[in-house]
Amino acid sequence: MRLDRLDTRTGVNPRISSPEEYTREETYRNTRAPVDFAVTLLPEAYSDPDFHSIERERVFAGSWIVAGCASEVRDPGQVLVTEVAGRSVIVTRDREGELRAFHNVCRHRAAKLLDDDCRSVRNNRIRCPYHSWTYDLAGKCLGTPLFEGSDIPEDQQGVFDMGGVRGFDKADYGLMPVSVDTWGFLVFVNLDPEAAPLTGQLGDLPERFSGYRLDEWEILRERGYEPKADYKLIGENFMEYYHLPWVHPELVKVSRIEDHYRSQGPGMYMGFRTTPILQNTGAGGFLGLPPLSTLSGEDAVSGRFVWLFPNVAINILPSHAFIIVANPEGPGRSAERTVLLAHPECMDHPDAEDEIEQLVTFWDLVNVQDIEIVERVQEGISNPTYRGGRMCYRFEEPLHRFQNMIIDRMVGIDRVPPGDDEEGTQMFARHSSGSTDSTGVQGGGRIGG
Ligand code: FES
Ligand SMILES: [Fe+2]
Repeated sequence: MRLDRLDTRTGVNPRISSPEEYTREETYRNTRAPVDFAVTLLPEAYSDPDFHSIERERVFAGSWIVAGCASEVRDPGQVLVTEVAGRSVIVTRDREGELRAFHNVCRHRAAKLLDDDCRSVRNNRIRCPYHSWTYDLAGKCLGTPLFEGSDIPEDQQGVFDMGGVRGFDKADYGLMPVSVDTWGFLVFVNLDPEAAPLTGQLGDLPERFSGYRLDEWEILRERGYEPKADYKLIGENFMEYYHLPWVHPELVKVSRIEDHYRSQGPGMYMGFRTTPILQNTGAGGFLGLPPLSTLSGEDAVSGRFVWLFPNVAINILPSHAFIIVANPEGPGRSAERTVLLAHPECMDHPDAEDEIEQLVTFWDLVNVQDIEIVERVQEGISNPTYRGGRMCYRFEEPLHRFQNMIIDRMVGIDRVPPGDDEEGTQMFARHSSGSTDSTGVQGGGRIGG
């Protein structure tokens, strides 16, 4: 196929006639083109239940997915219950201080063990509400209801005795493990037993954020939202600031469009920064709490913004962070968990509570503006007459990078894209398209061959 034969002029993607086409490279040929030539991802990716189910397996069941914050499982017995690709997962810390994750499924007859809002368990034990099989925090089956500490009355214990069951050893019936790891203030799980380490997905992020001591940060506030939009639209909106002047009149005063720079190394993420962030206006802003004293150089005056594949927005400012985990709830529906965090040192301020409220109000304003606009996109993209659009590549290269990551997984390619050729490109300034493609796809070679 040659580039000049691609139907990009009219922004047309092929029509889909069967779900298996979603797993074929050919389906995405127009989005695989170099960014200044590419068409946006086909619209069915945001609304078709068939795309959604394949994506759930290929993207979510095979990636490191954020389960919550490290501060939520600092102590033995604390738990996080999260859902990944439709499967409920428990994250906890065992008595030895080791982080553990398990499928939230009893090994007896599969009852869900812990409720979604469970935050800790009693006596460091996970007990099934159905027939009371009980597990320790390392997932070991301690017993069917006839083990030491059981509250089954002595005169009834015989009834529950599994001793007569043949070929049963409770050592074979521990909880089914899930891979778990952390970076900074985030806890990740991966359902794939063969998963590559988290470090590959993170790329150079740990190094870029090493000055922030993120693992010490604590949760200040959290809030949920239910956007009627696909999680990818939330991500794509986050990773471009082309829309700032029209959607965020308040934000653009503290994070000027001309102060944005690309900041994107190897890794499964899209990133940029604002340097410098400006003084708050009457509508609020990013300042207020004292900045972390150990930050220096650009870190001390910048906002750093990362969309970590597949579904997390990470906004890190010198005094606080705001994260959005956008979980897919169905075709065209998401559940957002947003969390405001700060290093304990930054809360040491007489007006800390007022400053935190100001930040909550400001981030809510910006987030609601984003949700309203992506819901409009969801409505438009569900109109079958629309077959795809074009990207303003100076602002929207990160979308191209992201959409190509999604395509990779849909067609079964496991790769981590390289970073930008040039660090800190000022995205508002005009520059050549040659340095803007960081999808990891050998654009010209693959497509023009
Ligand atoms: S299903 Fe859990 S104890 Fe029976
Ligand atoms: Fe926005």
